[in-house]
Amino acid sequence: MAFGTPGRRVAIIAGVRTPFAKAGTVLKDLSAIDLGKRCVAELIQRTELDGTQVDALIYGTVVPSVVAPNIAREVSLLPMLPKGVQAFSVSRACASANQAITDAADQIALGHAHVIIAGGAESLSNVPILHSRTMSEKLVAMSKAKTAGGRVRIASSIRPRDFIPITPAIAEPSTGESMGESAEKMAKINHIPREEQDQFALRSHRMANVGTEDGRLTAEIAPLYVPPNYETVVERDNGIRADTSLEQLAALRPVFDRKYGTVTAGNASPLTDGGSAVLLMSEERARTLGYRPLAYIRSYAYAALDPGEQLLMGPVLAAPVALQRAGLSLKDIDLVEMHEAFAAQVLCNLRGFESKEWAQRAGYSAPVGEVDRARLNVMGGSISIGHPFGATGGRILTTLTNELIRRGGQFGMLTVCAAGGMGHVMVIERAA
Ligand SMILES: CC(C)(COP(=O)(O)OP(=O)(O)OC[C@H]1O[C@@H](n2cnc3c(N)ncnc32)[C@H](O)[C@@H]1OP(=O)(O)O)[C@@H](O)C(=O)NCCC(=O)NCCS
Repeated sequence: MAFGTPGRRVAIIAGVRTPFAKAGTVLKDLSAIDLGKRCVAELIQRTELDGTQVDALIYGTVVPSVVAPNIAREVSLLPMLPKGVQAFSVSRACASANQAITDAADQIALGHAHVIIAGGAESLSNVPILHSRTMSEKLVAMSKAKTAGGRVRIASSIRPRDFIPITPAIAEPSTGESMGESAEKMAKINHIPREEQDQFALRSHRMANVGTEDGRLTAEIAPLYVPPNYETVVERDNGIRADTSLEQLAALRPVFDRKYGTVTAGNASPLTDGGSAVLLMSEERARTLGYRPLAYIRSYAYAALDPGEQLLMGPVLAAPVALQRAGLSLKDIDLVEMHEAFAAQVLCNLRGFESKEWAQRAGYSAPVGEVDRARLNVMGGSISIGHPFGATGGRILTTLTNELIRRGGQFGMLTVCAAGGMGHVMVIERAA
């Protein structure tokens, strides 16, 4: 039984994204808002959508702009959308675009909306740099000082160390452990050798390269002219390495545990800039507007565990719930798309799907099962393509949907692990 009542099934109409680029490279002069606008504009153009039909725009980002924190509203102020299209932003760490998509699905299923654009964007080239608390206090005190002498006195108290900036860390606020350290810890607990991680990373690059060269991945990309001159067009992801090898990967030094570690720049997802957007409609509105749905959202689930434990195992707890809600089991699933935060995390999640202990933790007697590797991330994943935190969920859903259709499969499942010990799983069904 699909999510939503008959006629109110949630139809996936189309998805598009910007190219994904390593932070500090070709997209560095574009903000997350710019990236979001570019892919939403392309989505509207490709689908010839009449902007007046759009009920809402829901958008995710993880590191929001301090001056424009509601990215969704800024993106919705595109010329092709009426100003009356309401918009809100969501954050669920690396599952933020997924949160936007499931919020949209809920609104459609409830009957509150018929047409929603959902997705997310991230510019890790443009993370806000903050002053230290002491510096902030001194700056505020200076602005409030009534006399020039008072301002000079406070200014003269500023020390060199007050200028040390604070940048958002990719670390758990509750434990201080970084994502990479967590992946390292999980690799050790689950006995994932370095070679298996490097093999997985190599596979990611090889498959993403094939998907790029044969046009399946580039078909999902909105080409982007980049500032300042708008002369250079970016049409493909720049993190995919056609020429990487097991030898090169094996030569890289571990980053998060230099002495005994296994996680390297080669088997981790890189810091990335990019945006994604998906057009969702109620089944009945798609019909009346003349759109042919690609697929329907069949179910979804979120789960969480203690961030101090195995931070990136959330999908293992969410998968059995999503499958049960879909009325399916893993053997019914034709394609699986897993977010690759780290090769170690994917391999730990795969082990978790096969484990009775993890099944019991999720409240089930039998494990989810073994994922057929031939059905897994068939065009690579975040390790090679890149991972703009807020955008990845939209990319994964788009790829899963398009590839399910190409392969004539019926059901697809996607999984995303996220900071805070959270996990998301969605099951989709190809439209007949
Ligand atoms: C792991 C990490 C710290 C590496 O950052 P970095 O050092 O800037 O990475 P680089 O891309 O410069 O790669 C480092 C080196 O490895 C090399 N390298 C990376 N991937 C490679 C590959 N597949 N094959 C061969 N060489 C590779 C690079 O060429 C570079 O070599 P150089 O130093 O000779 O130029 C960073 O990507 C990171 O923090 N990733 C995790 C992000 C994260 O936590 N995300 C949240 C997950 S949900």
